[in-house]
Amino acid sequence: MTTLPYKNSSLPIEQRIADLLARMTLEEKAGQMNQYFNLDARHHDQIRRGEIGSGLLSSSAKAGNDQQQRVLASIGNALQKIAVEESRLGIPLIFGRDVIHGHLTVGPIPLGMAAAWSTELVQEMYTIAAREARAEGIHWAFSPMMDIARDPRWGRIAEGYGEDPFLASALAKAAVTGFQGNDGVSGFPSRIAPDRMAACAKHFAGYGASEGGRDYNTTEITDYTMHNFYLAPFKAAVEAGVITIMNAFHEFGGIPVTANRKMNQEILKDSWGFEGFVVSDWAAVMQLINHGIAANEAEAAEMCARAGTDMDMCTEFYLKQIPGLVRSGRLPEPVVDDAVRRILRVKFALGLFDHPYTKEGASRLLPPEHLAKVRELARRTMVLLKNEKGLLPLPKQNLTLGLAGPLAEEARALLGTWTLDGRAGDVTPVKTALEQALGPGSKLLHARLWDDALRLARQCDVMIVALGESAARSGEDQCTATIDLPPGQEQFLEAMHRMGVPVVSVVFGGRPLNLTRVVEWADAVLFAWHPGTTGGLPVADVLFGDAHPSGKLPVTFPRATGQVPIYYNHKPTGRPLEPNSWKVSRYNDSLDSPLFPFGFGLSYTTFEYANLRVSKTSIKAGAVVIVSAEVTNTGKAAGEEIVQCYIRDLVASRSRPVRELKGFCRLPLQPGETKRVEFTLGPQELGFLDENGKLVLEAGKFQVWVGPDSNATLGTEIELTA
Ligand code: GLC
Repeated sequence: MTTLPYKNSSLPIEQRIADLLARMTLEEKAGQMNQYFNLDARHHDQIRRGEIGSGLLSSSAKAGNDQQQRVLASIGNALQKIAVEESRLGIPLIFGRDVIHGHLTVGPIPLGMAAAWSTELVQEMYTIAAREARAEGIHWAFSPMMDIARDPRWGRIAEGYGEDPFLASALAKAAVTGFQGNDGVSGFPSRIAPDRMAACAKHFAGYGASEGGRDYNTTEITDYTMHNFYLAPFKAAVEAGVITIMNAFHEFGGIPVTANRKMNQEILKDSWGFEGFVVSDWAAVMQLINHGIAANEAEAAEMCARAGTDMDMCTEFYLKQIPGLVRSGRLPEPVVDDAVRRILRVKFALGLFDHPYTKEGASRLLPPEHLAKVRELARRTMVLLKNEKGLLPLPKQNLTLGLAGPLAEEARALLGTWTLDGRAGDVTPVKTALEQALGPGSKLLHARLWDDALRLARQCDVMIVALGESAARSGEDQCTATIDLPPGQEQFLEAMHRMGVPVVSVVFGGRPLNLTRVVEWADAVLFAWHPGTTGGLPVADVLFGDAHPSGKLPVTFPRATGQVPIYYNHKPTGRPLEPNSWKVSRYNDSLDSPLFPFGFGLSYTTFEYANLRVSKTSIKAGAVVIVSAEVTNTGKAAGEEIVQCYIRDLVASRSRPVRELKGFCRLPLQPGETKRVEFTLGPQELGFLDENGKLVLEAGKFQVWVGPDSNATLGTEIELTA
């Protein structure tokens, strides 16, 4: 019996797609565009009829803040068997799940990962996630999320890579490559290895600008800002070969992104050449009715399909409406064909036609090498914000160490938000980690009650206070009107401070928190984000010096909620803030600066920057200039500095940010060691995008700096000539 071309694995994918598409009915095409969640026996007949193209693996719609039932390959295989062996064309299902920062072995929340400023470790993290998730029959991760966010009231700031487009773009690329394994392949990867998975760049685009930091809210973004900030990581993801994109709930320019042809078709597909498919966010097709854009299901389906949203997440509007829309002439069939072609392209690239089933019985045990790698990454996410008199690192021996605070024994919170498959039982709490780390002659005294802890303090050499947020206080649908610590924590810390014992505050959070009083009352402050499965172990590694703190903030930490939004790469305005300036953009009741700037983080040693050099002080537009500086470890301990390079376009046809990150690297240095670090600045770094997304490179003067954070002072001027 001859093999039908689309089933012939020796033929090129595009040929197989064309053959299959030509065989499909309108109902089968609409079926491929239909994703449904929690598939089970109720859906068997629909799968047989080819009415479901994708299964969203989620046992609840509680948006990542509840532990879900485990994914089993056997369940997926049973559903897949119906699709492949009992439907007319045998098109396999693609199963997707929110594998946001790990699967069974959970890594730090993405905002924490960003604090490591390490594309290598982030790529390895997502490779681990892909291997664990694909082994359980998950083909597609709704991740990485790369929404630029400047408002810590927005709970989803936890899921992205912070406020800077350069850093977020580098990490987005690393995450996509980690998931898909198509390292270095530009454009659409024709084959994804069986131990990797489809990545999904989300939420395209601008979701992080939700007004008031309230999730799902409206946004007001100019085209100019959209291109230079919010779209940047997505462009990097497309260049890295991402094969799916999820668009966002909000409206942009009055048109919900799900129905925004300019975004999904003109920019993403036509201009950037994206060849994968676009999936809506949960029920976003239906939400056009709530937005007041569509009067009914048919209008909503037509608008979204025409706008380049290829798959409908969980409303069935496409399934029910598209055949009729095409037959009535309201929706051209080529629009449907393009969507289906894209979906089939991803399924072929994943090998689902040739190998639709997953080997069953994957172990639930966390591989030690995964735990080791995740612990290494988590160590690098820790940001040392204060270390008065070198209190840290602590000695392991002959130390009476006190421990208090609501997160001292906590496990679940340390996994962070959007952890569907991590298990709290796998997490090492801070208390356990400290007990394991202490050596001879030491003891740990822990008190759960605040008053007991105060009484305990007198017996201790140092008191550790574990404060911060639960996992469920950040993530989707978890926004806060204040970024202060949860009630009671500051008061306790102040009381502990008055006991006269040195205090180390370890703060866990899914967002920048207002640490103004924490910094006042603690002698040392370590921000640990939500570190994932290894929990308190990397915290103890840093506290006792088994790892030196090297994390740097990927997002500004405000002094107060009232300063929000506050971010480093802001425009100068007509009344820029300068020392002793007046009638400028500021508050009367606060310092103008943030508590901690973007890029800030201390070490157990100190670094000095000197001898900044530029290869040329004047370069023709289009040429490159090499900026370099020497960095010296001037302390007594080894350290790893994250060296940063910033520019400012001093005069341009558009108002440009006062600082822009254009390069970074991790630099390990032994005490006394000096190394020179180089950064290459070319058109991509010195140009900017106009409101149409076109690169603009203008003659003029630039300031360049190299330093430890966005307040870097070692700088010089270069000039771009026409
Ligand atoms: C949610 C989120 C999105 C997630 C999707 C599937 O509402 O917005 O990030 O991937 O639905 O769970």
